[in-house]
Amino acid sequence: MDIREIYFAGGCFWGVEHFFKGVTGVTSTLPGYANGRSADPTYEQVYTDTTGFAETVKVCYNPSAVSLDLLCRLYFMIIDPLSLNKQGEDVGTRYRTGVYYSSKADLPVLEAAFAAEAERIGADPVTELTPLECFYSAEEYHQNYLDKNPEGYCHLSLKTFAYLKMFEKVRMYLADEKDAVARMSEIAAIVHEGMRFFWTGFYRVIPKAGSDSSSDAPENCQLVLGPFQGPPACLRIAYGRGVCGTAWKERRTIVVPDVEQFPGHIACSSASRSEIVVPVYSEGEIIAVLDIDSDRTATFDSEDAKWLELIVEIF
Ligand code: SME
Repeated sequence: MDIREIYFAGGCFWGVEHFFKGVTGVTSTLPGYANGRSADPTYEQVYTDTTGFAETVKVCYNPSAVSLDLLCRLYFMIIDPLSLNKQGEDVGTRYRTGVYYSSKADLPVLEAAFAAEAERIGADPVTELTPLECFYSAEEYHQNYLDKNPEGYCHLSLKTFAYLKMFEKVRMYLADEKDAVARMSEIAAIVHEGMRFFWTGFYRVIPKAGSDSSSDAPENCQLVLGPFQGPPACLRIAYGRGVCGTAWKERRTIVVPDVEQFPGHIACSSASRSEIVVPVYSEGEIIAVLDIDSDRTATFDSEDAKWLELIVEIF
């Protein structure tokens, strides 16, 4: 089997290793210290923050099961690419973010992944992209740390790991399926089962009866209920109406912490208290929205938004 390697510095290596161990196609992980000035440093030396080393995880992967591009996309899900020498509450140059490559052939893919991230966040990441100069494996007690210490410190949230599990299920179940209804159905079921939200489903952009489907401006279309999990819901939503129609019109994800504060919110169920709506694109056009409702207020935040955007990107 052709096995490749890439090195991710993303803050405390305990959580970063645990995260990449959950990615299908990753064959092994090794936490260590990269790109510092001495030979074979100890954790205590690196901890002084004077050695130049960054806590880094060596990730080995099978490129036919996971691409370098996807690994990078997932890496950007767990770092703050605009935070210099600080991830979560961990501060210091040893917690800087960086992608270090041992094969120069990887550079074009990595540069494209960095450019895509810059586009998504509207700024240049402070994350390093450089060749690997040196790497020393960390002491044994750091290896698989969160497996050995399930209650141990992790700067990544439980939600991050829950979303990674859902993302991996979506990737596995949808691998060979082209049919849009089948795909939406499976995604709704996976997200609903994974997060136990009140309502999880899709509304599809469909031409209104009588309109010429060959030239369908959004105004001539409406959202029609698609595959969902949960109680019965409104069947049709007009362009620009409700949270769903607004996300469609404004072409952006909308997080609503309290539906009563959102002007024009359409109450399909009085039990719904907060909501997130994520547009689904195909070739630049919005073809559907993913709508999730919770029966508690303030359920969704920017973390839900970025993971759900990744999940619907699989379309
Ligand atoms: N509340 C949504 C309507 C759809 S239901 O939540 C399932 C809205 O305002 O668009």
